[in-house]
This record gives sequence, structure tokens and C-alpha cells, in this order.
Amino acid sequence: MTVRKINELKPPMDARSCWNALTLHCNQTEALTMRQLFASDDHRFQRYSLEAAGLFLDYSKNRLTDETLQSLLQLARASGLEDKRAAMRDGQKINTTEHRAVLHTALRRPWSEALVVDGRDVMPDIRDVLLRLRAFTDKVRNGEWRGHSGLMITDVVHIGIGGSDLGPRFACEALTTYRHECLRVHFVANVDAHDLHTVLTDLVPASTLFVIASKTFITMETMMNAHTARTWCLDNDVPEAELHRHFAAVSTNLEGVRAFGIDVDNMFPLWDWVGGRYSLWSAIGVPIALQCGMDVFMELLAGAHAMDEHFFNAPLEANMPVLLALIGIWNANFLGARTVSIAPYHQHLQLLGNHLQQLDMESNGKSVNLDGFSLTRSSGPVIWGQAGTNGQHAYFQWLHQGTEWAPVDFVAVIRPTHSSHLHHEALLANCFAQSEALMKGKSLDEVSTELRTAGRSAEEIDRLAPHKVFPGNRPSNTILLPYLDPFHLGALIALYEHKVFVQGAIWGVNSFDQWGVELGKVLAVKIQKEMAANQVNPDSHHDASTQGLIERALRLGA
Ligand code: F6P
Repeated sequence: MTVRKINELKPPMDARSCWNALTLHCNQTEALTMRQLFASDDHRFQRYSLEAAGLFLDYSKNRLTDETLQSLLQLARASGLEDKRAAMRDGQKINTTEHRAVLHTALRRPWSEALVVDGRDVMPDIRDVLLRLRAFTDKVRNGEWRGHSGLMITDVVHIGIGGSDLGPRFACEALTTYRHECLRVHFVANVDAHDLHTVLTDLVPASTLFVIASKTFITMETMMNAHTARTWCLDNDVPEAELHRHFAAVSTNLEGVRAFGIDVDNMFPLWDWVGGRYSLWSAIGVPIALQCGMDVFMELLAGAHAMDEHFFNAPLEANMPVLLALIGIWNANFLGARTVSIAPYHQHLQLLGNHLQQLDMESNGKSVNLDGFSLTRSSGPVIWGQAGTNGQHAYFQWLHQGTEWAPVDFVAVIRPTHSSHLHHEALLANCFAQSEALMKGKSLDEVSTELRTAGRSAEEIDRLAPHKVFPGNRPSNTILLPYLDPFHLGALIALYEHKVFVQGAIWGVNSFDQWGVELGKVLAVKIQKEMAANQVNPDSHHDASTQGLIERALRLGA
């Protein structure tokens, strides 16, 4: 029976009843193993997999049944997911604490379709920025844009942090095979000047272009790096009047950009309805267009739009981001997983985990609901991981045999862009083998038989066997891309954006604010003043630990 058919049989329930029903179902199915589920259903792979926007998702290696899915879909409906999805698409102010719409999906919409926010169609502004970006990036890439002494630009340094860094940095790395032959793109984020100096060491100011990317243009790290970059240019014979050839900006803050001294003709705006961690689709993505060309950037947008169309229109039971989100909720809130491991089996996707970490944890790392009441259930999990096969030699031991466990999202690409076929075969074989091993495990009986066949003595078998047992029954998803091209990369990133949205909607949190980063920023400003004055201010009332650390750093010459 298909999921859709089962779903039609269920009467509507409120969200609380759905949570309770799922808890009961979880207890009743506790003893079920995935081995049994596969053994009892020859079509499990076909039934628990789907394609969307060119991506393929296999979610069959999860500890769930048709009834689990049906109950999770009921929970989604009872949580108002369909209305919340439409509210986001239509530009309603769903970021309630900042009174903002959430419209990163508008950035990748076809220009011909109007989208009115606050009485104004936002699409012409989006189109104008994209046209300006094309003109700018074409000039830099074809050598028309020159440095102050007439040299071509050979190096772009993108200065930004958080969402103004991670998304474009990840996309540039992922699309490395599309890069311009003579233009290198670098990223600097950390206020630790080792980051900036390491990049600047190899660069020549006369052929370097800095892009200062900050939605607010007040972020401490970015502004400090931007000022140091400016000084580096001036100290290295770039005349102040010529700085406009070496600096561009992306921001909502026109006055801030002007005050910094960047020519506003070199400024590309974004809007308050673009959240930082969703901003790579806006002009914040300019390094992608500089590195790979504007056509590639447009393809990235097209791939994301294809996933948007799927997300907004497909029924929940056949909706890839929805299913991924619901499986995540099942693993987190019912089976007890507190983390999710991201394992991209492609070297160029090695920063996927970094990008998803901010996307997911800054969005859903919340403990109150939209009305300000404490959540009674866990919200966003810890996101972590690194590229396969490297991770296999680091933390996969923990995944297979640790006392804790984490669901894994394997992401692989069918066709490589190199010709070393054997490497790619080995890469994919390892990816598929890991999810198989996590799911099947190896029982004590199987281990003992294996050791006996290998001629081990009974005593050795007793001693060794417990160490070689794999509990198995550990869930994973596998996402396959046919190629790592801009279209499928766009679809992949959008898939996770929508997954995060769906989970936030079901947990009832505001996925689009980030108040949790504020307190540390405020305290850092105070402490930095004390460090500059070389003494702790008694009015700061630091705890003894913080005071001790500041004093020790000062005493030792910080
Ligand atoms: O880390 C907090 C944060 O506000 C992120 O949400 C944001 O992406 C980042 O700082 C950078 O902000 P901005 O683009 O304004 O410099």
C-alpha cells in the first residue's frame, strides 16, 4: 500500500495527539530492525526513495515503516506545515521577532513573476542587481576592470563571516572545476589576523580586488579585516583616490559602505528579507560569479529554483525536503539522536558540513517557540562531519560501535570530472559500503562463524568476538547527484534549506532569527576595552574565571 493511500485513511488529529501517537508507535516498534524491514519488503528501496530537481534520495535505510511515515505526515499537517510553507513563499513576515519576510526563494525565481512585499514588487530590484553583477563580474573576469596601475585583477579576496562567508566559500570550492584560469578567489573570515595575513602574503595589492560582504556592515570581524586590508593597500602604494578600483561591497547598509570609503557604484545591495545563512543566492554570492562566471551563478539559482518548485508544489508524502525533515524529527525526537553527521563523498563538497552546520544550527538552535514559551521537546541537532573517505579513518569507528549513535546523510556524485575511474569506483564503493555496514551491522553469531572459518581457536573467538560485533540498525540517508554542476549544487543546498524550514515549522520555532549570538558579542566589546586599557574594570563584575583569564593574558603580554 502506498504512503498516500494509507494517509487518506487517517482522520485529522491535532499536533499534540500526533506527538503522543508517534511516541506510542515508537515504543511499539522498538524491537524492529532494518534487516527485518528489508527482508519483509522486496520493494523497500523503490518505495522509500524519490527524485526531485535531478537529485535522488534513498531513505530506505531508516528505522521506519509505512505507519511511521503516515504518523509523521500527520504531524506535519497538524503543525500547519502547508500554510507555513505558503506563507514563506508569498513573502509573509514569518520572521516574527525581526518583523521580516523570508524570501531567499525570490532570489532564484524567474524574473517575469511578480512578488509583492510591503506593496512593492521585489523582482525588478533582484533583476537589476543580477544585471549589475553580470556587468561587474564580466569586467573583472575579462580584464577590463584594472587595478590602479593598470594591472589586471588576478586575485579576489572575499571578506565576510558566517552566512556572508560559508555559503559562497562552500559553493566556490564545490564548483572549483568551473573556475577562471587567471583569477583566484580567496576567503577571509576570522578576526584572527593570521587568516588575513596568510592570504595577503602571496598577493600584490595592484592586482587584488577586495569584496567586503556584510549584510549589516557593522560585523566586528568583517569590518576589522576590511580596515586592515584597506591599510595594506595604502601602505603598498595604492593611492587613496584609486581605492575604488580595489574595493567592492555587498550590503544592505549604504551609509556604512559610503562611510568606509567604498564607491557606492561598486556596492551591490541585498535586502532585509534575505537571512545571512540564506544569502549566497544574493549578491553575497559574488565570489561564485567572479570565480565561475555569471552563467554558472544563474545555473546555481536555477537548480535551487527547481528544488523550490518541488518543495512548494509536491504533496508532502512525495516531497524530498519534507521527508528528509520528518525522518530527522523521527531520529531526533523519538529515537533519541542528538546529532546528525554529514558525509559528502566528493572532495569538492568537503565544506558541505560547515555550511549546513550554520544553516541548521543557527536556524533551529532555539529553545523557545514562536510565542516565547519554552520548548518541551528537543529542537535542532548538532551538525558535524567531513568528506568521505577521510571521515572513515577518523570518527566512523564511533558511528559503527560507539555507545552513542548519529544518523548519517551520505552525499555522493555519480560522475566525476576527472578520468581516474578506479578512484571514483573506490569512492562510491566506500560510500555505499558504509551505509550498508551501519544498517546491517554484524552479529555475535556472524563474527564467531567468521573467526571459526578463519581457523581461530575457541578461546580466541571468545576473546575477540565481542570487539568485532557491530550493532547495526543505525540509520542513514543517501543523496545522489548525477554531476557536481551548478544546477545540482543549487538543488542540494536548497534541499537542506527547506529541510531546516520544515523542522523549524514542526518544532514551532523561528528559524530565521539568531539572538543567541548577541550576548557574547556585547561582552567581547567590554573585554576588548579592558584589554586595550591593560586592566580589568571593576564595574564589569566578571566572574572569577573570566577575570583570571583576562588578567593572565594581560600579564603574559597579550
Ligand atoms: O553569526 C551571526 C551573524 O549575524 C550571521 O547570522 C550572519 O550571517 C553573520 O553574523 C554575518 O553578518 P553580516 O553579514 O551582517 O556581517
